[in-house]
Amino acid sequence: MSARLFDDRRYPRTSFARFVVDPEKCNACRKCVDTCPGQLLKLVDDVPVNRHETGESALGCIGCKNCFAVCPEGAIDVRGQYRVEEGYYRTTLGAPAFPNPFGDPEAPPFEELAPKLTPVERVIYQRRSVRLFKKKAVPEAILRRVVEAGRFAPSQGNCQPWRFVVITDRALLDRIGEECGRRVAPVAGMYVRSGGGALRERLKTLAVNALSRLTPNNFDQRLAHGIDTVANDERWDMFLHAPALILVLGDKRGIGEPLIDCMLAAHNVVLAAHSLELGTCYVGFVKMIETLPELKRDLGIEWPFKVMTSIAVGWPRTRADRAVARERPRVTWFPADRSGPREE
Ligand SMILES: Cc1cc2nc3c(=O)[nH]c(=O)nc-3n(C[C@H](O)[C@H](O)[C@H](O)COP(=O)(O)O)c2cc1C
Ligand code: SF4
Ligand code: SF4
Repeated sequence: MSARLFDDRRYPRTSFARFVVDPEKCNACRKCVDTCPGQLLKLVDDVPVNRHETGESALGCIGCKNCFAVCPEGAIDVRGQYRVEEGYYRTTLGAPAFPNPFGDPEAPPFEELAPKLTPVERVIYQRRSVRLFKKKAVPEAILRRVVEAGRFAPSQGNCQPWRFVVITDRALLDRIGEECGRRVAPVAGMYVRSGGGALRERLKTLAVNALSRLTPNNFDQRLAHGIDTVANDERWDMFLHAPALILVLGDKRGIGEPLIDCMLAAHNVVLAAHSLELGTCYVGFVKMIETLPELKRDLGIEWPFKVMTSIAVGWPRTRADRAVARERPRVTWFPADRSGPREE
């Protein structure tokens, strides 16, 4: 392991998805530029350009396909996929594919599939993270309605270890965004920003590699660039300018792993919201509230509760409910005839 700590690079060999735009169809509306979570795109001569290809971003396209989902002109194609080819974060996923719940030899276009699906299935496949919101407020009655869906999630031992904090106070949202952004900024400084000489760069790489072994979830290059965006891009708002935020808190005494129960509750909220034509985006950076005692106190978060996640909620500024291709995970079957295991 120690040899790898020195060998691994901050940016392992990676093949990125390819953002492809048809300039004939593009109307320069900027929606793809504003929605890209890695802030990878910029308009040049009224056409979006990938900043990785111009050498301005070490991270390329991660293939989330949000640009494809929001483009009103159908001008975008995202080809290929994000694959780390080597090292600690090597990707283990299979090739991406569109939803094909009926196992057709060829997945049909989603428009053909949709009428055969239940309303719940349609919401599951068409829900995309929404990062472009109208300013228009979400009525309290509707926020109550979606939080209500959270309450009916399953939980270990039926212990229901959740609490919700609903915030529509813009000044408070700005404060949370700024304070959490300042807390995560050093990670971007260590990972993304270069300079300071070869020795310093080598030490930063060594520190990133060592920390990734201690806390594997926090040193993926995609997260580092997400942090750089929330901490250093003045145009980016951590809560995506959404008019409402639902903080999901978890009771630390919840049976087993309360994070699981709380995320099930959170996703009930998300699915209910999308079924009502609202848009949502999870915002994980709010976990930093745990390191900000004054803010935590002002939000009324005290033992036994801790921040699990949050959901930005609002009315989408543009249609984003498109099905997209997703990677296939490995599935192992142990059939009743005992012919297993069979890997797919
Ligand atoms: C727990 C969690 C935290 C997330 N945090 C953020 C975030 O802070 N900011 C953001 O723009 N997206 C965030 N996302 C959204 C993911 O980037 C998104 O789900 C992923 O790219 C897949 O895209 P889709 O949701 O459109 O299918 C988060 C998602 C999850 C599940
Ligand atoms: S969203 Fe589509 S139409 Fe708008 S700038 Fe991007 S490619 Fe062009
Ligand atoms: S697929 Fe995602 S990461 Fe890639 S350009 Fe589009 S929005 Fe950005």
